[in-house]
Amino acid sequence: MQNSPKRFTITAALPYTNGPVHIGHLAGVYVPADIYSRFQRLQGNDVAFVCGSDEHGVPITIKAKKEGITPQQVVDKYHAIIKESFQEFGITFDNYSRTSEKIHHDTASNFFKKLYDDGKFIEQTTEQFYDQEANQFLADRFIIGTCPKCGFVESYGDQCESCGTSHNATDLINPKSSITGNTPALKETKHWFLPLDQYESWLKEWIVKGHKKDWKSNVYGQCKSWIDDGLRPRAVTRDLDWGIPVPIEGADNKVLYVWFDAPIGYISATKEWAENIGKDWEPYWKDEDTKMLHFIGKDNIVFHCIIFPSMLKAEGSFILPENVPANEFLNLEGNKISTSKNWAVWLHEYLLDFPNQQDVLRYVLTANAPETKDNDFTWADFQARNNNELVAIFGNFINRVVVLTNKYYNGIVPKPPSLSEVDLKILSELKAYPNVIESSLERYRFREAQAELMNVARLGNKYLADEEPWKKIKTDEERTKAIMYVSIQIAEALAILSEPFLPFTSTKLKTMLCHSELNSESTWKDVSTKDVLIPSSHRIGKGELLFSKIEDKKVQQQLDKLEATKKENTVINKNPEPQKQTIQFDDFSKLDMRVGTILEAKKMAKTKKLLILKVDTGIDVRTIVSGIAESFSPEEVVGKKVTVLVNLAPRALRGVDSEGMILMTETPDGKLVFLNPDDEKVYNGAPIS
Ligand code: 2FM
Ligand code: ZN
Repeated sequence: MQNSPKRFTITAALPYTNGPVHIGHLAGVYVPADIYSRFQRLQGNDVAFVCGSDEHGVPITIKAKKEGITPQQVVDKYHAIIKESFQEFGITFDNYSRTSEKIHHDTASNFFKKLYDDGKFIEQTTEQFYDQEANQFLADRFIIGTCPKCGFVESYGDQCESCGTSHNATDLINPKSSITGNTPALKETKHWFLPLDQYESWLKEWIVKGHKKDWKSNVYGQCKSWIDDGLRPRAVTRDLDWGIPVPIEGADNKVLYVWFDAPIGYISATKEWAENIGKDWEPYWKDEDTKMLHFIGKDNIVFHCIIFPSMLKAEGSFILPENVPANEFLNLEGNKISTSKNWAVWLHEYLLDFPNQQDVLRYVLTANAPETKDNDFTWADFQARNNNELVAIFGNFINRVVVLTNKYYNGIVPKPPSLSEVDLKILSELKAYPNVIESSLERYRFREAQAELMNVARLGNKYLADEEPWKKIKTDEERTKAIMYVSIQIAEALAILSEPFLPFTSTKLKTMLCHSELNSESTWKDVSTKDVLIPSSHRIGKGELLFSKIEDKKVQQQLDKLEATKKENTVINKNPEPQKQTIQFDDFSKLDMRVGTILEAKKMAKTKKLLILKVDTGIDVRTIVSGIAESFSPEEVVGKKVTVLVNLAPRALRGVDSEGMILMTETPDGKLVFLNPDDEKVYNGAPIS
């Protein structure tokens, strides 16, 4: 087992404050970060676990426009909801701050100023997209277009949510303003750029040649591919009126790019926390002995592994993250979680439907965490894991131990006359668990770690089932004492080892075992070293159910709720997007559309969305790359007759020349289908693209 450094700075992605938080947030970032932080505190380490609300950026302004309120009102509303949800779910941030705090504005402005004074930026006047109707520049999410890398048609100006690529808005194919739907014009404006190209060889050294092979393969792979593709200067300022003003002369109406200010939010949150408790914040960010970790979702990898480290390197006095254990995404009942489509399980709503059952959700989300690939949350799985694992294994074991100890010994832990070989074997197996769980946690394998915790409960259950104290009590009272004594040691181990994963259960269990009455409480390490965790003659309390069965009816209610959302979305989708600008007949007649047949189809390697098709257009047989792989398998499309736009200028997608476009439309739930207006799944107003 490696010796951990003593000081940890653990950050969890600052959530955008444009909506409440849902199970995807919890599973991807906050539960693993909390498990890890709690675990390190239990080892006696010095932990600063920080987070806060990300209150700048275009998502907030878009939400404000939609709701007809100010951005400040939006962030005030959601900051309160998000903060409360985290507290309710036992996420033990040492500080949950917000980027509208003065301390953050000062910290981010000073950071920018230092880089500016040190000549680390390039000042450049370039042409940026401008919406003449809305009379504003179109930064980031204000612009939508086709990703030049993967072909996703709804990529944002700064990042494609489908393939994760971070790009400049002007790289988008077919860009559109998300405010008016208009094709934007280009207009000159001055900005400050961080020349990432100058950090390329250093990043290569640090990540590729350095010690980062122990990073998760999804994280390492993404970083390597960006570095290999070559890095370009990134603008770190924006023409917006919501954000932190650029703190230099000649930068009126410009703010810091949200992805410049947000990660600095980790530093501000640490400073605020340290100030409040009279500590020095600097060792947490500047001492090489500190282990810094960023817990994030996969869409944030580029910002935490390439851009933020380059900013820290440019500043010069900061340490860099030791690891960035990013998770993939959690889907819900087979579909991508979507805030705008209300396709989510919101934490504040879950608590109304399942009061005091935070640990059940924490458990299920960890058991099914999207650690190496996207995973699906289903209510059936939620019910099964609760009923068959938490209730039937963990809860059942504890219940038997507590009830029998009360029944046979009035709650007083019996003194075993002697321990059998079986007892000693069980106690020695128990001692191995802290290290086993620790080893998984140190490799950020939270599912595996939690599964080992459940193995402790399984060990106890099997021991009781094999030894049958309820039968032995009738024939061998002395032996029964030994069995119950050993079982209580297992129960105590569960109370200690479950704390990072199931904190509410751990507290309840400690209360049942009357921890406050013990002379000294056992620690995590004690479970592997001490022979006695709870001594004989200690009195435990009465039994209380740790978990209760979730009935089919409860699950059905949740499924009905989702079904209703689907229906609402259908209605919303049937209110189509506003019509685009009028065009002349001449414009239309430039389009050459033909009927074609797909002859061959195969998946494009390393992409999720793209199929490479061979299409007989009647004119020729040509290659077309189409972003339909999530709606169709290659086998499904071969032989299909399709509408093909044949005179679209060829373009290279992932190195393959695409010579045309297959026209598609969509069903109300966003699934792509081939153009056939007579298809009953297609609705009036469905876009053809
Ligand atoms: O993706 C998001 O929700 C961002 N608000 C995460 C920011 S993480 C950090 F850098 F602050
Ligand atoms: Zn993409």
